[in-house]
Amino acid sequence: MAKTYRIAVIGGDGTGPEVVREGLKVLQAAAEACGFAYETTDFDYGGQRYLASGGDPEKPTVPVITDDEVRALKAYDAIYLGAVGHPKVAPGILEKGLLLKLRFDLDQYINLRPVKLYPGVECPLADKKPEDIDFLIVRENTEGLYSGMGGVQYKGTPHEVATQIMCNTRRGVERCIRYAFEACTRRRDKGLLTLVAKTNVLTYAHDLWYRTFMEVGEEYPDITKDYNHVDACCMWMVKNPEYYDTIVTCNMFGDIITDLGAMIQGGMGIAAGGNINPEGVSMFEPIGGSAPKYTGQNKINPLAAIGALAMLVRELGEEEAADRIEAAIAYVTATKLGSLAAGKMGCTTSEVGDLVAEAVAKGLKP
Ligand code: IPM
Ligand code: MN
Repeated sequence: MAKTYRIAVIGGDGTGPEVVREGLKVLQAAAEACGFAYETTDFDYGGQRYLASGGDPEKPTVPVITDDEVRALKAYDAIYLGAVGHPKVAPGILEKGLLLKLRFDLDQYINLRPVKLYPGVECPLADKKPEDIDFLIVRENTEGLYSGMGGVQYKGTPHEVATQIMCNTRRGVERCIRYAFEACTRRRDKGLLTLVAKTNVLTYAHDLWYRTFMEVGEEYPDITKDYNHVDACCMWMVKNPEYYDTIVTCNMFGDIITDLGAMIQGGMGIAAGGNINPEGVSMFEPIGGSAPKYTGQNKINPLAAIGALAMLVRELGEEEAADRIEAAIAYVTATKLGSLAAGKMGCTTSEVGDLVAEAVAKGLKP
C-alpha cells in the first residue's frame, strides 16, 4: 500500500489560519487528482497560545513551543505553517520562540525561495514579463547573523556596547553551497549559480563563503560559478532580473533580497518559501507576515500559502501534484484575479482557494 503522508499544520497567528485553510483545500484536490493519501494534525502554536498560557507580552517568560513539542514534530513528513506574529506580543518573542526555534532545532538549514512572476500578475518593474523573472534564491537558514551569538553591556548607559556575531562554520556554509549547486543542476535553466555576499568588507566571513563556493564548484564543472556583491545584486534584481538562475547567499542577505524578490514577483500575496532539512522534516510557509489588520476578513491573498503547499508536495516527492498546483496558480492569476493585493483581488480568500482547487481538479493551465 502507498504511504500516507503525515502533515503537521501550524496555522499560527493573524491571517495564517485562513490562508492555510485554502492551501489544505488545494492539497485535497491534488491528492484526489494524483492519487496519494495524507492526514493532517493541527497544532495551536503561536501568539494566542503564548498569551493564554500566561506568557508576558513584553518579554519571553514561558516557551512559545517546548523542546518536547518540537521533538514530536520530527515524526511528521512535513510541516505547513501559516504565519507568526501577534499584535499584542512584542516583536522578537514569537519570531525567536517559534519560527527561528523550529528552523534551528529541526536543522532546516536551507531556506528556499523561488522568485517567479506568474502570468497576469502586475510587476512593478516596467516591461518585465514572466519569462524575465524566474529564479531561485537559496538562503542559508541556521547561522550567520541569526546565530543569536553576541551580547550587551552597560545597557541603557552612554557606554552601551552591543554585539551580534555573524557566525559562519565551514560545515554550515559548505552544506548550503552544495545544496545550491544541486538545486541549480535540477533546475536545468542557464546553469548559472551566483554567490551573493560582501567579500570586499566581510573579509573573514565571506572569504570563507567564497573559498568554499569555488572549492565545491570544482565538483560541478557544468555550472558557471558567478559572484555578485549583495548591493550590486539588489541593483541587478531590479534592472536585469532575467540574468539570474540560482542565487546562494547567507542568512541575513537572503532575508533582505527575498523581500525584494517578493516585490518583483508581485508582492507578499504570492511569495512562498520552504525551510528545508534534506535529511529531516521541512517546513513550508508563505513568506509574508500575519497581516493582523486583515484577520478574519476573508480578504488576504492565499496564493503564497498555496505556492508553499506546492513546494511541500514537491519535497514529499509528488512532482506531478506540485506541477499541477503551480499550473493551477498560474491559471488563476492569468484569468481570474484583478490584483494580488489583499482586498483588491476581486475575490475573497476562500474564493481564490476554491478557484485553485477547481483548476487542480480539472488540470487547468494558463
Ligand atoms: C522571514 C522573516 C523572518 C526572518 C523573521 C520573522 C524572523 O523575515 O522568514 O524572512 O528574518 O527570517
Ligand atoms: Mn524576511
